[in-house]
Amino acid sequence: MYQTILTSIENGILTVTINRPDKLNALNKDVMNDLEAVTKEIEDNEEIKAVIITGAGQKGFVAGADISEFVGLSHGEGMDLARRGQDIFFGIENCSKPIVAAVNGFALGGGCELAMACHFRIASENAKFGQPEVNLGLIPGYGGTQRLVQLIGKGRALELLMTGGMIDAQTALQYGLVNYVVPQEALINKATTILQTIALKAPLAIARCIKTANAVYASQDGYKTELEAFGDCFETEDMKEGTSAFLEKRKPAVTGK
Ligand code: COA
Repeated sequence: MYQTILTSIENGILTVTINRPDKLNALNKDVMNDLEAVTKEIEDNEEIKAVIITGAGQKGFVAGADISEFVGLSHGEGMDLARRGQDIFFGIENCSKPIVAAVNGFALGGGCELAMACHFRIASENAKFGQPEVNLGLIPGYGGTQRLVQLIGKGRALELLMTGGMIDAQTALQYGLVNYVVPQEALINKATTILQTIALKAPLAIARCIKTANAVYASQDGYKTELEAFGDCFETEDMKEGTSAFLEKRKPAVTGK
């Protein structure tokens, strides 16, 4: 049924594993289509009470949107890409059933954004978080500029956004980006234990916890600002150079144009 994700259900808990380990589970169009479809399945399938999202392999949760799909996009196509990413991640954030990110390695760019769209996050000790888009002459476009500020505060968020640097799991814990850090082999168990507790509660009350917590930020239009700014980046020379440099495995030459 799905091309790029694996799903398995046990005791009402669905585990969704993004399965492109040779590309560190980067989010290409197929993965995004599958994430959209599985979100609908989660809402519709009464057997599913709660969800874990994780990445295949030992090294990556998700290392970002697939950079190879950025090449040659126009301003409008860049905005369309961001709009689709934002919409799919809104679907996850607004899902009426609890969705936890079990971050088992790199959660960069769109991967960090996916983790932040989930209702909360648990990390393995080797996890690394960051929004490295600026290294490509870009900004996050799937809600990252908004949710990073919401979760860790403006000062820390702007440092991460502007340096393009990574933080380790312990720093993510200290920042409040993740709720727990556990050894990699204990990650799924930890997520399952918490979700088992939640699955015993009244589902309509759980759905309303999610809805009301999301309502704290509902009046903000920063997502629109983000997708317009993301589209603007596609018109810059530095973005074209930044993405080419990544794909050619070299350092970009930034010109400010
Ligand atoms: N998009 C497309 N391909 C990606 C990717 C991405 N976001 N992240 C990793 N990959 C691919 C690499 O190109 C490589 O493919 P190849 O083996 O065909 O050359 C493969 O995944 C493994 O990655 P590699 O870079 O060799 O692993 P590493 O351990 O040396 O480095 C990272 C790991 C995460 C530091 C590095 O892959 C990276 O910087 N990725 C991009 C992160 C990023 O900028 N994300 C934001 C995108 S908007």
